[in-house]
Amino acid sequence: MLAGKRILLIIGGGIAAFKTPDLIRRLKERGAEVTPVLTRAGAEFVTPLTLSAVAGQKVYTELFDLTDEAEMGHIELSRAADLVVVAPATADLMAKMAGGHANDLASTLLMATDKRVLIAPAMNVRMWDHAATRRNLATLMGDGILTVGPNEGDMACGEFGNGRMSEPLEIVTAIEMALADGPLKGRHIVVTSGPTHEPIDPVRYIANRSSGAQGTALARALSALGADVTFVTGPASVPPPGGVRVVRVDTAAQMLDAVQAALPADAAVFAAAVADWRMADAVHSKIKKDASGAPPTLAFAENPDILATVSGMGDGRPALVVGFAAETDDVIANATAKRARKGCDWIVANDVSEATGIMGGTENAVTIITEGGADAWPRMTKDEVARKLAARIAEALGGAA
Ligand code: C5P
Repeated sequence: MLAGKRILLIIGGGIAAFKTPDLIRRLKERGAEVTPVLTRAGAEFVTPLTLSAVAGQKVYTELFDLTDEAEMGHIELSRAADLVVVAPATADLMAKMAGGHANDLASTLLMATDKRVLIAPAMNVRMWDHAATRRNLATLMGDGILTVGPNEGDMACGEFGNGRMSEPLEIVTAIEMALADGPLKGRHIVVTSGPTHEPIDPVRYIANRSSGAQGTALARALSALGADVTFVTGPASVPPPGGVRVVRVDTAAQMLDAVQAALPADAAVFAAAVADWRMADAVHSKIKKDASGAPPTLAFAENPDILATVSGMGDGRPALVVGFAAETDDVIANATAKRARKGCDWIVANDVSEATGIMGGTENAVTIITEGGADAWPRMTKDEVARKLAARIAEALGGAA
């Protein structure tokens, strides 16, 4: 899959840089060619000699190195690759990327490249959660940057939390996704996934049991067929796939905004379990028990229906709009009615009644409802459902663009 692919690997200045020789080795094992670019801070953690020995290539370090410019200018270097990977992507590198800085070789290459960029963030948990990093990440997502990780776990600084760089093999998988070639190459597909959280007050919210497993598997399967996937996810318990554009949201209203911002697309698949209701009025302070002990009355307002909204778009409607229907009884009749009501092309219907163990489980039994009727698939894993559905989507879109 990676044979002959050229990867420009930019190594930022974080302790996770010590994993990059292993990453290079694993990429090379798979036939990829890796050109390392080491930032000044990165060189504090891993030496150019180690990297060039493992990569079997020259390591680029400085912007104004005349020999480098004579051999290969920085513009050419940024374009000769099939994919630019930043690992570890530190808070500082992400800020530079979001701000459009070009004051050293790494940031200049990132500004000059015409190729896709995949970042593997790595930083202290506080830095990852900092409002500035959140803002920068949102900007980078909007720019179409792909991500892998970070993971949760113990950190070199002694703290625990989100911010560990993905392991080399996870980064390799994300790179394979980002470079995947297949019948969906050149197609942009939006996938929604996970539950939404609708705040009741600053500390409470309405949620549901969706894990995001099916939507995540689907995004991964579409990406493996070469699609350019924008993955709009609520607060799911399953981590998002690597190598796709991830947009994280909480509420249904935010999910609709994110989907609209991601359009145009060739197809849109709405696998999210969106809350139907939100609080009618925002409550900015915690609702307290009152002296009488009477429970509060919550007033709800209807959430936008993202599937129906996108299905009903005139100009700019994706050619294929797919909805999901989680039903507990009369699955086919209800899902067929839902397809008509929402105006989508296909409904993927599943029986989520408790006895099936599907909600939150690893298996699914779905029926695909299209204009032509209902096609019931046997029970299989959610990954298999995803691969089969992705193949069917590729067929419907007519293969390569
Ligand atoms: O109406 P119901 O929730 O059963 O419909 C399920 C389908 O509609 C799913 O594809 C879901 O993602 C989508 N949906 C939506 N926006 C909503 C509610 C549901 O996109 N507000």
